Amino acid sequence: MSARTLFVTTALPYANGPFHIGHIMEYIQADIWVRFQRMRGHTVHFVGADDAHGAPIMIAAEKEGVTPQAFVERIAAGRRQYLDGFHIGFDHWHSTDSAENVELSQSIYRSLRDAGLIDVRPVEQFFDPVKGMFLPDRYIKGECPSCGAPDQYGDACENCSSVYAATELKNPFSTLTGATPELRVSEHYFFRLSDPRCVTFLREWTRSDDRWGEPRLQPEVLAKAREWLGEDSGNGSLADWDISRDAPYFGIEIPDAPGKYFYVWLDAPIGYLASLKALCHERGIDFDALLADPATEQVHFIGKDIIYFHVLFWPAMLHFARRKTPDRVNVHGFITVSGAKMSKSRGTGISPLRYLEIGMDPEWLRYYIAAKLNSHVQDVDFDADDFLARVNADLIGKYVNIASRASGFVARQFDGRVLSADEVEDAAQRERFVRLAAQVTDAYEGREFGAVARLTMAYADEINQYFDANRPWEMAKDPAQQDALHRVCSRCLIAFHRLTVLLAPMLPATAARVAQLFGTPPLRWEDLGVAEGATSPVHSIGRYAHLMKRVEAKQLDALFEPPTDSATPAAPSPPSEPASADVVSIDDFGRLDLRIARVVDAQAVEGSKKLLRLELDLGEGRTRTVFSGIRAAYEPAALVGRLTVVVANLAPRKMKFGVSEGMVLSASADDAQQSGALFLLDADEGAQPGMRIS
Ligand code: MSP
Ligand code: ZN
Repeated sequence: MSARTLFVTTALPYANGPFHIGHIMEYIQADIWVRFQRMRGHTVHFVGADDAHGAPIMIAAEKEGVTPQAFVERIAAGRRQYLDGFHIGFDHWHSTDSAENVELSQSIYRSLRDAGLIDVRPVEQFFDPVKGMFLPDRYIKGECPSCGAPDQYGDACENCSSVYAATELKNPFSTLTGATPELRVSEHYFFRLSDPRCVTFLREWTRSDDRWGEPRLQPEVLAKAREWLGEDSGNGSLADWDISRDAPYFGIEIPDAPGKYFYVWLDAPIGYLASLKALCHERGIDFDALLADPATEQVHFIGKDIIYFHVLFWPAMLHFARRKTPDRVNVHGFITVSGAKMSKSRGTGISPLRYLEIGMDPEWLRYYIAAKLNSHVQDVDFDADDFLARVNADLIGKYVNIASRASGFVARQFDGRVLSADEVEDAAQRERFVRLAAQVTDAYEGREFGAVARLTMAYADEINQYFDANRPWEMAKDPAQQDALHRVCSRCLIAFHRLTVLLAPMLPATAARVAQLFGTPPLRWEDLGVAEGATSPVHSIGRYAHLMKRVEAKQLDALFEPPTDSATPAAPSPPSEPASADVVSIDDFGRLDLRIARVVDAQAVEGSKKLLRLELDLGEGRTRTVFSGIRAAYEPAALVGRLTVVVANLAPRKMKFGVSEGMVLSASADDAQQSGALFLLDADEGAQPGMRIS
């Protein structure tokens, strides 16, 4: 496929508050898709912006005694830390309150007017005489015209669920001033969506395929659109859309209509174009040419609550202004935080900023959300226990595990040299991977990210099983099996590198660390090496450093802690459960004196099949003798010089062969005695003998 040019957006968040987890979820979904396209070599212009206009923001600013411009600027200043924090790679972040947007909105409006699609009609509406402004329905309350319930909003009754116009409320009042609103008439501007041209165009557009022969709308979104367009009942037509608001309003002036402003939803999607235009200006790209080019694909990511605007108003506006219409509108469901299952003390919301501030890894969330996403409009639930289990099992237990197990042998015994795929893989194994790579590629393209997680983790399972079945820790002790050991570990490392490429759209920071570990340039899709004649860029591996930490339960507790600065005092927490026997306090832990030690000498112990006698330097000016049951797993000579971890304050123990003055730490499976699979802990470069471990 030749290189594509994509213009990709996410919905523009209202600039009335910081990002919440729903925004972050949308950005993660879009960012993963964008990174995938970039790794494939395509050009992507990925933009966002603040949706700055509208009455609510104007009123909120006024309450704070600042201009709406100053208000939205303050919100905009807070965006960076979230976007960087979660590795969201927008090329540009703009505002709908910008010169580009004024120019584009007015120009699109003029085109619609020239096409005969704008109408002016009187509208009777509530006016707050104290405030001197027309009131949006949400600022009017009164008694329900059906059941008489007091204090109901201007659109629907919370008591009897009936729906009505604000003007039908009994004893209405303005929630801004308490004044009784007056009915006044004012001229409003309408986009004539009822025009047969609009309905015909939209019926055609909504059900057409994109240039790749895929439907441009998801089936459930198309079904909604057909309903709105009255396609099944046969008698539907769209209502004209009121696109004007009277001054005072924070928005863009309507040309040739003094005192009239565009309703915020008119200029908001045009903000997509404004942001792209600003980006083009920054990068010296011809904006008009880019959008005029039929090859440029326009793709929007939005949530399910704003479908109407994006599949009816927006394409119609663009089409009748003779501009490019969206190739795709990708709709996602909402993220929820498991209500019922969530413990009271953990609360119900999660703050993305708090997530970052307490040091949780953004890639855990990226992976977790991705693993739960598919191409449908389905809600995604964030569940704390599920999050911990899933991230630790998949990313740590399956994926990272491959590198941490295989890299040591290659680094220590083969100078870090990794054999090539041809040398370590048979035709069936290669074919298996080529098929997997194709499946994952399709899954990314079709936003089936859950399938990507399933497919990659299944491969990670296979590789871990391959590692176990070959028992490299035994091969390591047999000089005749050195070549085999090299092949087994190389195959695992090549698989790990491939998995990293496949997961890179979800885990960009880890992928960058892995590229460094293998000394390769930033990862690209072609590094999978599946194309005819392609080769893997992997030739060697450096010293393995930690790639990712596991999630700890206490982090999730902290994530859900009620914020300390909240105005309402936190409810008293329930009495804590008595500590179970396998939980230790930090004080208990502090009683262990763990130290770094260097192995100065290691000898087999005459008369013992299990023990090695180690002479350890703990930086005390003398060495200590420690007996350790690791003979089955390690050649004594291979241990000399390396760093490990010792319990330094263990009471000296008199053994048959001498006194042991401490204990070295190693990891093992439950059946370690039979398999001899023991793994001594070590420390990263730079640690010195005697350093305390805490
Ligand atoms: N300003 C409009 C969009 C204008 S687009 C030209 C708006 N802003 S919003 O801040 O309310 O929502 C921005 C995006 O966040 C929307 O796509 C919306 O669906 C999404 N989400 C808001 N809450 C959400 C969840 N709980 N979960 C997932 N996405 C959610 O609408
Ligand atoms: Zn009612």
